[in-house]
Amino acid sequence: MFAVEAKNLKKTFKSKDGDVEAVKDVSFHVNEGEIFSILGPNGAGKSTTILMLTTLLRVTSGKGSILGLDVEKEDKKVREKIGIALQDTGLDNLLTGRELFFTTARLWGFTKQDAETRTSELLELVGLNEAADRRVKTYSGGMKRRLDLGLSLVHKPEVLFLDEPTTGLDPGSRRVLWDEIKRLREDGVTIILTTQYLEEADELADRISIIDNGLVVAEGTPDELKAQIGGDVITFIFNNYEDSKTAKDLILNSEIEGNELRVAVENGAEKIPDLLRKLSEKNLEVTSVSASKPSLDDVFLQVTGYRLEGASDQEVDSEKELSEYE
Ligand SMILES: Nc1ncnc2c1ncn2[C@@H]1O[C@H](COP(=O)(O)OP(=O)(O)OP(=O)(O)O)[C@@H](O)[C@H]1O
Ligand SMILES: [Mg+2]
Repeated sequence: MFAVEAKNLKKTFKSKDGDVEAVKDVSFHVNEGEIFSILGPNGAGKSTTILMLTTLLRVTSGKGSILGLDVEKEDKKVREKIGIALQDTGLDNLLTGRELFFTTARLWGFTKQDAETRTSELLELVGLNEAADRRVKTYSGGMKRRLDLGLSLVHKPEVLFLDEPTTGLDPGSRRVLWDEIKRLREDGVTIILTTQYLEEADELADRISIIDNGLVVAEGTPDELKAQIGGDVITFIFNNYEDSKTAKDLILNSEIEGNELRVAVENGAEKIPDLLRKLSEKNLEVTSVSASKPSLDDVFLQVTGYRLEGASDQEVDSEKELSEYE
């Protein structure tokens, strides 16, 4: 049995301006005890997929199941098994961290005594002991995300959904959360985490599904994904965009990015002299050349045709779309 299974999930939002196909066709499975990452840019359909799998949004078509339970037909049972830390939490900022944990535990049906015990355990677990009696509105971004994580754990869920748990955090706070997430996996919790950070997926995930535009475009362990590219990636840097464009026509299967041209080859060290000769024959001046093993960044570029880190234009687009439909 899989911890999570998505089979041809689809979500279409209806609005007066027409339909939005937020998730077109998403399938994957998550094994028990693993960290599975859904990696994709703004607007890819990550949150929509998570919301359907956590019973918070109706499925348009396809099927989702958690530990064999259907998310639509057995939604109540599903909710007992899962913990969720959503991307936009409307935390009640007037309460203290301790009050929030206690209240959440009471809502899950804990007795006063048990709720107090669970509150202390979780404050310790997510490192919020010192700040426990301060109002949440005084917490830093990192502390709030740790609080979100802690609150999703109150009822000891078997499967945990984290929607962009570290977005907007500085590298230090991000690392603290990564360590906590890894510790949860050691305790046997299955974790599904969405991210737009390649580094995060590489560091945490046992397996990754890359989604773009509502579709799965690649899936595998980080190493499998990188091996799909194979060999080495050679990067040439030119003085200007014109030169890199001319060079692109000379080098088969190369990808251009401003002044940079990248090409995946079997053996970088062997290929570089040949390629350099080809470029100098056309009087193209290369300012630097290097060969490296493929990264997830290269995988992403290959399967989507663009770089994730440079996806800021899309951010603007998806925010605009959202405000139109809200
Ligand atoms: N309630 C809604 N009504 C209409 N369109 C929506 C709604 N929710 C999401 N969308 C659209 O569906 C697409 C996918 O959105 P979604 O929030 O799932 O993306 P995401 O991958 O989580 O992005 P982000 O990284 O920005 O959180 C976007 O184009 C978005 O504008
Ligand atoms: Mg999202």
